[in-house]
Order: sequence, then C-alpha cells, then structure tokens
Amino acid sequence: MNIYKAAVIGAGTMGAEIAQVISFAGIPVLLKDVNQEVVNQGLEKVRKIYERRLQKGKMTASEVEEKIKLVQGATGFDAFSDVDIVIEAVPERMELKKKVFQEVEAHVSEDAILATNTSALSISELGSVTRRAEKVVGMHFFFPAHVMKLVEVIPGLATSDETVDDVVSFSEALHKMPVRVNECAGFLVNRLLMPYLNEAAYCLEEGTATAKQIDQAAVAFGFPMGPFQLVDQLGLDVCADVVKVLMASYGNRMAPAQIWSELYGAGRYGVKSGAGFYEYDKRGSDEFMHLLKRVQRERGSSTFDFERILYLMVNEAVLCLEEHVSSASDIDLAMVAGIGFPQDKEGILHFADQVGLDQILTKLMQCYEQHGARFWPAPLLRRMVGAGFLGKARGRGFFEYST
Ligand SMILES: NC(=O)c1ccc[n+]([C@@H]2O[C@H](COP(=O)([O-])OP(=O)(O)OC[C@H]3O[C@@H](n4cnc5c(N)ncnc54)[C@H](O)[C@@H]3O)[C@@H](O)[C@H]2O)c1
Repeated sequence: MNIYKAAVIGAGTMGAEIAQVISFAGIPVLLKDVNQEVVNQGLEKVRKIYERRLQKGKMTASEVEEKIKLVQGATGFDAFSDVDIVIEAVPERMELKKKVFQEVEAHVSEDAILATNTSALSISELGSVTRRAEKVVGMHFFFPAHVMKLVEVIPGLATSDETVDDVVSFSEALHKMPVRVNECAGFLVNRLLMPYLNEAAYCLEEGTATAKQIDQAAVAFGFPMGPFQLVDQLGLDVCADVVKVLMASYGNRMAPAQIWSELYGAGRYGVKSGAGFYEYDKRGSDEFMHLLKRVQRERGSSTFDFERILYLMVNEAVLCLEEHVSSASDIDLAMVAGIGFPQDKEGILHFADQVGLDQILTKLMQCYEQHGARFWPAPLLRRMVGAGFLGKARGRGFFEYST
C-alpha cells in the first residue's frame, strides 16, 4: 500500500519531529494534539527545524513554505478519513495508547495502518484492543527524529507481513534506514544500549576510573560521546523507565547499578534537570562526589577496561541474533545508525568478528567469575567458538570473509 497521507497523534517532542520528517518527504501530514495551544507549539517546532535548514542554505524560503504547508494542525478527527497511516506519539502509558488507537480507529478507513512510536511497550498488547491487530505495528524513531536515520519496525504477534513491508517502504520514502525487529523488551537498540550504559556505571562504582576517563575511552574507541554524557542527554529518568521494562523481561542481568538509583533519588536526571553524572547548573560537583563515595565504599574494586563494557553489549547482540530479534546485518546497521557505534568498525557483530569470538568468550567467562551472572555468555557464542567460527581471521564468524 502506498502512503499518500499520514497523521501523527501527539505534537510533543517526538510527534512534531516525525511530522517534519514526513512533510520533508513531500507527504501531507496531520498533526493532532489535545488542544490548539499544544498543536501550535508542535507546528512551531516543525517550522524551527525548517528555518535552521534555511539558515544553513540547505533550502530556499519557498521550498520551506511549501513543506510547512504539508503539515496541518488538528484537534479533532475531521480530516482523518483518507489517511493511510496514523503514528501515535503520545506519552508512554499503555492505557493512554490503547485509548488513542480505539478512538482513532473509529475515524480512519478500514485499511489504515496504526503505528506506534512506543519506546518499550508491547505492540501485540496494543494491537489486541483494536479490530485490526494485523495493521498495528511499531515504528520507533529516535530523537532527534529529523537527524537520526534509524527506524525500528516492530511487528506484534498478529501484525501481517504486508503491514511490515508497507512500513519498511514508507520509512525508506522518509529517507530513513528501517530495520525489522521482532518484538522483545527494549526492542533492539535499547536492549543493547542499556547494559552498555549500566556497565559503565558499575565500573564507575568500582572506583577504578572517573566518569570522564570512561567517557574518554568510549570516544577514543570511536563513539560520538561517552556513556555518561549519553545518559545525561537521554535523561536518567527515561533510561530508568527502560531498564525497568528490561528487568521485568530479562531479570537481574539488567539490574541498574546503584549509582543510578542514587542520582535518580537526588533528582539528577541529566542535562534537563541541570545535573546528572556531570554538572550543567551551579549545583557544584560536591553532591555527585558525595553520592558516588556512598556507593563506592560498599563495593570492591578491580582495574578498569573498556572491553568489559563493550563485550557485554556484544553478548546481548548475540542473544538477539539467537532469538531471531534481527538479522546480523540489521543488528550492525542499528548500532551504527541508532547509537553511533563507530562506522569504521561496521557494527557490533563485525567488531566481534574482528576481535575474535574465542577471545570474547574467554573475557566474558573471566568477567562472569569476577562480576557475576550478567556476563554469562550467550549459548550461540559458545557454539560458534566450538565450531571454529572464530571471526574474520578464520574467514567465518557472524559474517563470512574471503581469505
Ligand atoms: N522523547 C524521546 O526521546 C523519545 C524517543 C523515542 C520514542 N519516544 C516515545 O515517543 C512517545 C512520545 O514521547 P514524547 O517524548 O514525544 O512525549 P511528549 O510528552 O513530549 O509529547 C506527547 C504529546 O502527546 C500529547 N497527548 C497526550 N494525550 C493525547 C491524546 N489523547 N491525543 C493527542 N495527543 C495527546 C501531549 O499533549 C503531548 O503534546 C512515547 O511513547 C515515547 O516513549 C520518545
């Protein structure tokens, strides 16, 4: 099915960005929210994104006006009868999202797709309250959506292949890189990212490196920013919510480091609250050092190495591959386009192949003995090592290489 007209429900942080992305592709889009004031704020956000393009000389004034005209604000459902896809971007609460989909369903045609931008809620559960579960799908954009290329396309249990194909094509028409992700808690990117961010916090608690040193190690590896800078950008409150969802599904291997709870308790959510792992207002660093010392006193210590943080993410990627959450190439694409995994390393699984899977297995076992069950190696990793699929040097690992 071709998408000739779209609608976005919720004109907040993500909704406005998504509407801009759709209009930029030349597709008319309705932007709906609860009242005119919020709709206007959303339209203003869209305008600002275009004005920045204008200032940078990337578009002319008439091109900007033409695109902006494609975004029409709405507080009701008057113009919804001919939309082909509705993307909801209302706050992350299951009951609210269910209510929105049920409400929308009464105003759109029978074959309209209902997509959700949820970060972590179940697509299957959301679909179950509609009369078209086969047309309900996850379409997870990343912030800022007008910059980030990745879109996770997530079918629920009842979603049809046709719907997935339509949303993949639509994402491509929006100049995005869609990856198909089979439903699991955290989907693909958050499931891999959170253990990485959390492990950095465990290292900090052990007192063998400062947040700055760990961030520098990540940047030296090739990430655009370090794990603590990233948590501060994303918001510790948002990350904590995602970790809760991950823990509910995967258990204690996703348990947050204690420093997360300490910062959370102190309202240090990151940039938006003026302080997090770093300071952004005039609170001073005494508070952070005090909180850190509290948890550091309660833990042992070891030497810091960045590999440990990376290999935990490799292990989670292997678990995803084993569970058929995504293909190896899509996992790599998602890591590069979604979290800025260094492009020259071609993604986490290519990186693992480069290091050697036997080396990674050995290191994971050492970490398991030292730090506990969260490092237990993925069964597939063991099988691959046993079969001699050791990575690039042997011509075969997660990918095949000509020797
Ligand atoms: N913010 C991010 O970085 C990010 C990234 C990826 C995904 N998400 C997901 O996107 C969704 C939206 O997040 P956000 O950060 O844009 O939230 P937000 O709070 O900025 O915006 C939500 C908007 O929805 C509106 N809304 C609430 N109820 C509504 C209703 N019944 N009908 C129409 N509009 C309604 C609110 O008025 C608000 O403008 C969430 O599911 C979130 O998990 C957020």
